[in-house]
Amino acid sequence: MALLEVEALSRSFGGVHAVQDLSFEIEQGKIHSIIGPNGAGKTTVFNLITGLYRPSSGRVVFDGVEVTGYVPHELARRGMSRTFQNLQICFNMSAVENVMVGAHLRLDQGMLGSMLRIPTVARRDAECRDEARELMRFVGLDRYVGAAADSMPYGALKRLEIARALAARPKLLLLDEPAAGLNPTETHEIDALIQRIGDSGVTVVLVEHDMKLVMGISARILVLDYGRKLAEGSAQEVRGNPEVIAAYLGGSVEAGST
Ligand SMILES: Nc1ncnc2c1ncn2[C@@H]1O[C@H](COP(=O)(O)OP(=O)(O)O)[C@@H](O)[C@H]1O
Ligand SMILES: [Mg+2]
Repeated sequence: MALLEVEALSRSFGGVHAVQDLSFEIEQGKIHSIIGPNGAGKTTVFNLITGLYRPSSGRVVFDGVEVTGYVPHELARRGMSRTFQNLQICFNMSAVENVMVGAHLRLDQGMLGSMLRIPTVARRDAECRDEARELMRFVGLDRYVGAAADSMPYGALKRLEIARALAARPKLLLLDEPAAGLNPTETHEIDALIQRIGDSGVTVVLVEHDMKLVMGISARILVLDYGRKLAEGSAQEVRGNPEVIAAYLGGSVEAGST
C-alpha cells in the first residue's frame, strides 16, 4: 500500500517552475530516495509534502487522507516528520531538549502545562526526556546525552536532528541531505542509521547527493530534473537509464564514486 501519493504536483516561484506535474508514490515500510542536480526541485517537493509551501496545483494523499494544504503541525500529528538541508538546531538548549521539541509536536498541551507545573505534565515531561535520551542513543549520540547543543560537532548535530524528527514518532520520515558535509566515516554511520530506522518500520524518503549511500540503501529512486520526473525505479534501473546518465549521473555512477 502507498503511504504517500503525490499527484500532478506543481509549484512555481515567479517564472521558475520548481516542481512540474510530478506524480509518484511512496510505499509503506521502504526506503525511497529522490535525487537530481542542484535546483532540480528536491527540497521544494519536501516543502510541498510537509505543508511548508502550498502547491500551485496537484494533490498530496497521506495515509489514505487528502492532506493538500494542511499546515506542518497538522501533518506532524498525522505522522509526518522531516529534517532540513540546513541545520535547524536551538543552540541555547541542551541536546536532549532539542530532541524533546520533536515530541512536543506530538503532545498537545506541552508548554503551558510545563510552565504551570501540573503534576501529570511534569511526569510526562520526565518520560519525554527519557525517551529523548533513548533516541539519542539510537542515533549513536550516547556520549552527547548530557551535552549542550552548542558544544557538539556538525556531524553529531546532523544526527541530533534525526533524533528530533523521530521523537514525533513518525510513520513517514523525510531526510533532506542528511550526509551533506559529512566525512566518509560519518556518512557510513548515517547509512547504517537510516537502515536501522527503516528496519524499525518507519518509511523513509531520502534526498541525498552521496550516490554510494543512495544506491545501496534505496528500494526505489526518483530522479528529478528541472522539477520534472526524469526516471523512477530500482537503483539498477536508474543507474542504467541513458537519460539519467546523460542529464545527471555521468559515468561516475557505474563506479559508484560520486
Ligand atoms: N522559496 C523560494 N522562492 C523562490 N524560488 C525558490 C524557492 N524555493 C525554491 N526555489 C527555486 O526552485 C528551484 C528548485 O529549488 P530546490 O527545491 O531548492 O532544489 P534542490 O533541493 O533540488 O536543490 C530552484 O530554481 C530554486 O531557486
Ligand atoms: Mg535542496
